[in-house]
Amino acid sequence: MGRIGRTLLRVLHQRNMLTSVVAVNDIMPKENLIYLLTYDSIRGSFPTEIKSTQNGFSINDQEIMYLQQPNLAELNWRTHDVNIVVEATGLFTHSSEAKHHLVAGANKVLLTTYSKDIASTILGVHSTQPSSTLISPGDCTINCVAPLIHTIEKTYGIGSVHINVIQGYTTRQELLDSPYKGLRRGRAAAHSIIPFEVNIRPVLETIFPALSGKIETMSTRVPIPCGALADLSIVLKNRTDADSLNKLFQDSSQNELKNIVSITFDPIVSVDVLGNAHSSVIDGTLTKVTNGTHVKLLAWFDNEWGYSNRLADWLEKM
Ligand SMILES: NC(=O)c1ccc[n+]([C@@H]2O[C@H](COP(=O)([O-])OP(=O)(O)OC[C@H]3O[C@@H](n4cnc5c(N)ncnc54)[C@H](OP(=O)(O)O)[C@@H]3O)[C@@H](O)[C@H]2O)c1
Repeated sequence: MGRIGRTLLRVLHQRNMLTSVVAVNDIMPKENLIYLLTYDSIRGSFPTEIKSTQNGFSINDQEIMYLQQPNLAELNWRTHDVNIVVEATGLFTHSSEAKHHLVAGANKVLLTTYSKDIASTILGVHSTQPSSTLISPGDCTINCVAPLIHTIEKTYGIGSVHINVIQGYTTRQELLDSPYKGLRRGRAAAHSIIPFEVNIRPVLETIFPALSGKIETMSTRVPIPCGALADLSIVLKNRTDADSLNKLFQDSSQNELKNIVSITFDPIVSVDVLGNAHSSVIDGTLTKVTNGTHVKLLAWFDNEWGYSNRLADWLEKM
């Protein structure tokens, strides 16, 4: 029940899917969770009152059990008749760890990021496979860029792609300068523009084997609490121009990428994308093509809200 767990609960509430939620598990005291669900610095107050109950809390008179169990091996989902677990700690992403939820009685586990050994399945690229028991839906960046790369690759062919994701800080950074194995990641998050490595290249190469060795990725963290802009530089195999590229995405956003990718021609800034449910909002005013084959494509995304909507999509399919 961190940023993604709590955002997902709000999305499920908005989509009238809350009745499917049986229990949540985190290590914080229950009163702290109710407080953080009720008041949110990015999303505002929860639209309805959240009340403490004997076993957890209730929203619209529906009780959700609260468990405080840090050890996955001690969880017993069977007792609570749980079908799907959303594993949103970010800590147990290897199949050997996520499988604890299956041993505990759940039938399926939906991760909230990519995994070292479970292939990512991305909405807008793959046809979904809700039959798998362990599902890794990629992270927010992969969900933003993969449908764009997929569309461009099949239309023009891609020679190489460089991705820089300019993104607000997350809980995996430090508030003030601290020791950290990636040195720059330990610097005060709200104080600097912080470039650092992200490890999504191997994931993208698995999704797009034809692009192995042709993808580079980095992230630039900026002092805002939410919101992101993916900056893609792509060398094409076949020529195009900016209008054709925008038209391609105007069409696909009404068809195969509906509800996943959209395109705007308004001069927006990052706060304007907060609360947007798409994985990717292409900024058509910034699309550039130099010499027919060198593309610059920029796409906004709400790293919490857009991604949590994809998780809700997955839960609907599962
Ligand atoms: N934030 C984003 O924009 C975003 C977008 C897409 C994907 N993701 C991915 O989603 C995952 C979670 O990210 P987040 O930003 O939501 O992180 P977060 O806010 O730090 O949430 C993680 C939550 O898990 C709790 N937790 C830690 N150990 C636990 C345990 N043993 N059992 C139960 N709960 C435990 C944490 O409690 P404490 O705080 O007390 O440690 C915290 O509430 C990461 O893999 C991340 O990469 C994040």
